[in-house]
Amino acid sequence: MWKHLPVCPRMRIKYTVFLVFVVALVIIEKENNIISRVSDKLTPRQTPQTPLQVTIVAPLAATKQNDSRSSIGKLDPGFRHMKRRLENFTEQADPSWGKKHILLLATTRTGSSFVGEFFNQQGENMFYLFEPLWHVERALTLETGGTNASAAGPAYRDVLQGLFLCDFTPLEGFIEPVPIDHVTPNLFRRESSSSLCEEPVCSPVVKGVFERYRCRTRRCGPLNFTLASESCRQKEHRAIKSVRVRQLETLRPLAEDPRLDVKFIQLVRDPRAVLASRMVAFSTKYKNWKRWAVDGEVPVDDDEVRKLKGNCDNIRLSAEAGLKQPEWLRERYMLVRYEDIARFPMRKATEMYQFTGIPFTPKVKEWILKNTQASKEVSGVYSTQKNSSEQVEKWRFSIPFKLAQVVQKVCGPTMKLFGYKFAESKEMLTDKSISLIEEKNFS
Ligand SMILES: *[C@@H]1O[C@H](CO)[C@@H](O)[C@H](O)[C@H]1NC(C)=O
Ligand SMILES: *[C@@H]1O[C@H](CO)[C@@H](O)[C@H](O)[C@H]1NC(C)=O
Ligand SMILES: *[C@@H]1O[C@H](CO)[C@@H](O)[C@H](O)[C@H]1NC(C)=O
Ligand SMILES: *[C@@H]1O[C@H](CO)[C@@H](O)[C@H](O)[C@H]1NC(C)=O
Ligand SMILES: *[C@@H]1O[C@H](CO)[C@@H](O)[C@H](O)[C@H]1NC(C)=O
Repeated sequence: MWKHLPVCPRMRIKYTVFLVFVVALVIIEKENNIISRVSDKLTPRQTPQTPLQVTIVAPLAATKQNDSRSSIGKLDPGFRHMKRRLENFTEQADPSWGKKHILLLATTRTGSSFVGEFFNQQGENMFYLFEPLWHVERALTLETGGTNASAAGPAYRDVLQGLFLCDFTPLEGFIEPVPIDHVTPNLFRRESSSSLCEEPVCSPVVKGVFERYRCRTRRCGPLNFTLASESCRQKEHRAIKSVRVRQLETLRPLAEDPRLDVKFIQLVRDPRAVLASRMVAFSTKYKNWKRWAVDGEVPVDDDEVRKLKGNCDNIRLSAEAGLKQPEWLRERYMLVRYEDIARFPMRKATEMYQFTGIPFTPKVKEWILKNTQASKEVSGVYSTQKNSSEQVEKWRFSIPFKLAQVVQKVCGPTMKLFGYKFAESKEMLTDKSISLIEEKNFS
């Protein structure tokens, strides 16, 4: 390295002093991200910090505690250069440096496919996965004959952690049939992740292989996780959408993993609207609700009603935990209401991107413009192409008042927290001039 420095011995000494000074300053900067991340990464988990750092730092640290890096930077422009060099070094030593990991948490029929597209459309720097936990839930359900929340939590967490680190092995363990040589033709909704549909992850269809994906506008061969993982590593940011995590608290280890910079976005929606939408989308599963809608009283102690209450309580508990901003979630949690996104898509998308610290690209803006206005070509229940402001009130005309009342009864605290107003009567429910959404700011 001396080759790049001036030859004169006096200059060498000056530079040495300068370097030691700079290194020491940088190291003692207690709240300095770079250093804490570098040492987290460079030092194996269990071993203490290298003694070398400690010995260099000690003498200078005592006198320089109060110097801020920026003021030193002003004194010496060379410092900025050194800082960049250090950042470059950090990036090489740690490939996850500066990468953001976004987890979009929701429940079914809350508009999460639509909101997920905000990230899926970001561009070349984003690796987006759509509902990878589908496989985990299915495997656990088949195994135990029902979802066991206490067993599912840790499994979801470990798979998500792997995926954020571009390691698909934990997920592969839950895919049926088990991938052969890390290749599967069975990834759930692969076509909903642009990252899995582009070169080189989209390998050409091999003649004779009948399993193939329709990947947006093209066809791809079976998914090679080795290729997916390589592609993931090359992307700057990663986003995953999931409707399966029940409790935010179970993901605490992700927030505390020094290799990750996780941002949780919890997406919520009026539970009355969610029920109305589920009765259409999952008509077999919601057949009891459909029956109650037509005739008879809703038995309040029914399993279905208890399940609804359980869902609402989980969503509320997660949101309460997030909004309390405990240390482990500081600047890592954002609550978003689907209704606000539907009414002000561009504004909310901007806020979400600001929160994540990822550039809001023109490509995303374009997608939002295109998909929140005209809606002549509306199709299928999973369509994200709908007139979103119109869509947001539609449920008020499809759910009978008595079902709305049941939801208000069992999900009351959840609705209050998110600012969803109760409908006091059938007339109020269907009177569009009365808004059922309180304007509310959660940040
Ligand atoms: C360091 O800075 C803090 C806050 O600005 C100040 O209260 C403290 O007196 C300073 N310590 C020294 C040794 O200058
Ligand atoms: C940092 O790395 C980039 C690309 O790797 C290089 O172009 C740039 O000159 C480096 N900056 C410094 C200060 O070394
Ligand atoms: C659920 O999972 C936990 C942890 O694996 C286990 O102890 C418990 O017995 C399971 N409960 C049921 C009903 O399967
Ligand atoms: C999957 O991709 C990797 C990396 O390119 C390659 O080495 C491997 O042979 C591929 N697997 C299959 C079964 O094609
Ligand atoms: C979308 O719906 C809203 C509310 O009904 C309506 O005012 C608006 O004109 C619609 N926009 C389009 C492009 O259809």
